[in-house]
Amino acid sequence: MSPVAVVTGAASGIGRATALTMARDGYEVALVDLDGAGLTGTRERIEDGGGKAHEFALDLCDPLAVGSVTREIAVTIGAPEVLVNVAGIGVAATVLETSDEDWSRVLAVNLTGPFLTTRATLPLMLDRGSGVIVNIASVGGLVGLARRAAYCASKAGLIGLTRAIAVDHARDGIRCVAICPGTVETEWIGKILANAPDPAAAREAMAARQLDGRLGTPDEVAAMVSFVAGPEGRFINGAALVVDGGMTAA
Ligand SMILES: NC(=O)c1ccc[n+]([C@@H]2O[C@H](COP(=O)([O-])OP(=O)(O)OC[C@H]3O[C@@H](n4cnc5c(N)ncnc54)[C@H](O)[C@@H]3O)[C@@H](O)[C@H]2O)c1
Repeated sequence: MSPVAVVTGAASGIGRATALTMARDGYEVALVDLDGAGLTGTRERIEDGGGKAHEFALDLCDPLAVGSVTREIAVTIGAPEVLVNVAGIGVAATVLETSDEDWSRVLAVNLTGPFLTTRATLPLMLDRGSGVIVNIASVGGLVGLARRAAYCASKAGLIGLTRAIAVDHARDGIRCVAICPGTVETEWIGKILANAPDPAAAREAMAARQLDGRLGTPDEVAAMVSFVAGPEGRFINGAALVVDGGMTAA
């Protein structure tokens, strides 16, 4: 039987690349996202490559749905060995520009979502005595990004949650690690650029934030997830690993 990995945000971008990579690594992958059509696209690509995947469309902010889907995954596919929390959203706003609604939604998706999936999944990992939880945070959790107040707060919180889980459960055979990407070329970034007054100039400015002078690729983040989750990553725990083309070095 293949080990099971759960990947949230699997309909798009970094989540889709992570799901494809985990499937290539031999995991049977539970794909979780709000976007049902996107999930089907990811499942079909995994199956075309000879892998196994299953779709679970849900809102990760809904505790009852997260609980029942986690039970369904455990019963129908198996207890997860790896949980990768990728789903996330952002709002471009300073504190003064952030509405109550946007603040709550960003915190709910980016921080409460990983809390809920972890709370539902950890007992299954504890029963087996092993498991890896990988949280996709952001460089915004480590440094301030302009007009990303709620986003930066949520990602700094996610790094804190990661460390707390590692401290509480290292002795139980559980590892929990955060990955902090710089700017990565995904559907999300594509939408931001498309809405900019001058998309080409906006793209150039975004690329220039990385010392490498380019955007990262979803596969470059997925490769780090794969390394962390696999046996070679076994000494990595509670860390916030930066994959940012040098963005935070300057
Ligand atoms: N792209 C970047 O430059 C970048 C940089 C650093 C960190 N990240 C982080 O990586 C993660 C993925 O980003 P991406 O660029 O691939 O974005 P994306 O928009 O391409 O994908 C995000 C996915 O999350 C899903 N999602 C959002 N809210 C959800 C909810 N409530 N329930 C279930 N699914 C939900 C969306 O449907 C979407 O499929 C995010 O957490 C983001 O903060 C991205």
